Amino acid sequence: MALLNGSAKTMAEDVYHPAPEIVQSAYIPDYDAVHNEALADLPAFWGSIAAENFEWYEQWHTVLDDSNPPFFKWYVGAKTNIVHNALDRHMKTAARNKAALIFEGEPGDTKIYTYQQLNYEVCKFASVLRALGVGKGDRVTIYMGRIPQLMMAMLACAKIGAIHSVVYGGFSTEALHSRIEDSASKVLITCDGAWLRGKTVDLKDIADEAVQRAGTIQNVVVVKRTGQEVQMVAGRDHWYHELMALPIADPKATTEVMDAEDPLFILYTSGTTGKPKAILHTHGGYMVGTATTHKWVFDIRPEDVWWCAADPGWITGHSYIVYAPLINGATSIMYEGAPTFPYPDRWWQIVAKYGVTILYTAPTAIRGFMRFGDSWPSRHDLSSLRLLGSVGEPINPEAWKWYHRVIGKEKCPIMDTWWQTETGNFMITPLPSVALKPGSATRGFPGVDLDVVDEDGHPVAPNEEGFLVIKRPWPAMLRTLYKDPDRYVEAYWSRYQEQGWYLPGDSAKKDEDGYIWVIGRIDDVIKVSGYRLGTAEIESALVSHSTVAESAVIGVPDELKGNVVHAFCILKQGVEPSEKLQMALRDHVGHEMGPIAKPAVVNLVDSLPKTRSGKIMRRVLRAQTLGQEVGDLSTLAD
Ligand code: WTA
Repeated sequence: MALLNGSAKTMAEDVYHPAPEIVQSAYIPDYDAVHNEALADLPAFWGSIAAENFEWYEQWHTVLDDSNPPFFKWYVGAKTNIVHNALDRHMKTAARNKAALIFEGEPGDTKIYTYQQLNYEVCKFASVLRALGVGKGDRVTIYMGRIPQLMMAMLACAKIGAIHSVVYGGFSTEALHSRIEDSASKVLITCDGAWLRGKTVDLKDIADEAVQRAGTIQNVVVVKRTGQEVQMVAGRDHWYHELMALPIADPKATTEVMDAEDPLFILYTSGTTGKPKAILHTHGGYMVGTATTHKWVFDIRPEDVWWCAADPGWITGHSYIVYAPLINGATSIMYEGAPTFPYPDRWWQIVAKYGVTILYTAPTAIRGFMRFGDSWPSRHDLSSLRLLGSVGEPINPEAWKWYHRVIGKEKCPIMDTWWQTETGNFMITPLPSVALKPGSATRGFPGVDLDVVDEDGHPVAPNEEGFLVIKRPWPAMLRTLYKDPDRYVEAYWSRYQEQGWYLPGDSAKKDEDGYIWVIGRIDDVIKVSGYRLGTAEIESALVSHSTVAESAVIGVPDELKGNVVHAFCILKQGVEPSEKLQMALRDHVGHEMGPIAKPAVVNLVDSLPKTRSGKIMRRVLRAQTLGQEVGDLSTLAD
């Protein structure tokens, strides 16, 4: 394991101190006090938060069971359902009549669901799923655009105890197929198509091909969104609106009583090698962790309009579009389309229209807006904003400052949140009361015990690069990899097995003030526009093309997207290299994996650098591409 991304990040000198009124009104005005209290007794800390802010059908007997590491359990013995806390309990309060979800469609249509209305839809769809034979523990794959029914489908699954597996709508045939098959889902929920930049993406066609390859799906539920022509397979495919009009769509659906440790969802994410990893989260700990981090970091108040501009198909959307905001009784925005469509001020128009108070997005989006200049946001009244957020990749200080100045008008603190699909919730993050340094995600959320260490686990000196580690468990942590506990142990807990630390797979520095500066991945995960992609999956897409014998892909730094994919392919004997073939290979990756995985460059080569044991040395390819020193080549075969 080497520190691949050695490029030293500039440490900005600037420190931004929060205004006194922000500190005074914050939920956590004194970070150090709360952090120290939490570390002194983690179970007591997370026990009292869980008892005071959530409803449980039955109390736990043990807050944290750490008797069998790394298989930690939280709130052992407790009964709950995350949907009870996200919806059911709000039916008894004034939140019932509050907007839960404000949906803005790309074509300009809008729809607002109050908590009551959202609950009504979720109950009906939960009943429909039950009528289709879905029950506790069954897996359901969801593959849709960014529309309210995506959220409803997730909640309906959780309500009946089924395990949802959402596949990002920007993924394509093979990515969807492998995820359906691995989870052995019986039901797929999809839509006819999705709007993107004024055009439609043919989701149902892609779903049909994936379902045909997979063979586990018995029923496909199709939401009508674009109204485009689609094939409906008799007996297998059902229109959502038709099912919801039947008596089986009972609005009086009961909420399944779940064990706190029962699975809530699996979400596939990329790892170093092999197929994607099925990260498993549970009802109890995930609920407590996501809602608490959301409330404290973004200072959620009843009057807020919260906009997490991610896609629900990734962890950011799961935790901070769907679950945490609903549990906190917040009002959320969901926008269907592209940020700059039809004009580069679409987002700023939405902020002004709904009076958004908190905006949470990714550095790549900010850099994208920067390119269009200050005049587009300046046309709109952004004065409702009071907090901003960033996630997905390190934010470069220039982008941070532009975001702060042009969008936040120098009065909105920026919460740069570092976390992962695996962690479930924010791990390294400021709170509104904390002093900020552009480019640093600051320090651990209260109770998160982390450090930056060397190969042997010794803390590295200030400002030196090392491996980020998390030293103690937290409630929203992944519990395992679905059906693959050995890989769970190997991937995250084997490197520092003796110490019992979790290895996130990122390199970082810690400065004199204890602030963390995340640098990047230490493995073969590539972050393209904040989307997490694995080299292995893209390589197997390339090799599935009839002309390719072998392939390797690497991430290459890109000013806008953070990274782009470069591919290297050895063609099969007799196949002539050509520009046309390079284009065809790019398109093939788009068809199999999805447009985000398309290589920016496809190199057709005669050989690939390998170790004597046959492992591709991507580090050598990367160094060659970037014109850097290749480094130690003693293990190179040829
Ligand atoms: C990276 C996304 C720097 C990191 C929530 C991590 C970040 C990976 C930040 C997880 C941040 C996420 N600063 N890097 N604020 N947030 N990352 O699972 O490399 O899609 O390991 O979860 O994104 O990506 P994932």
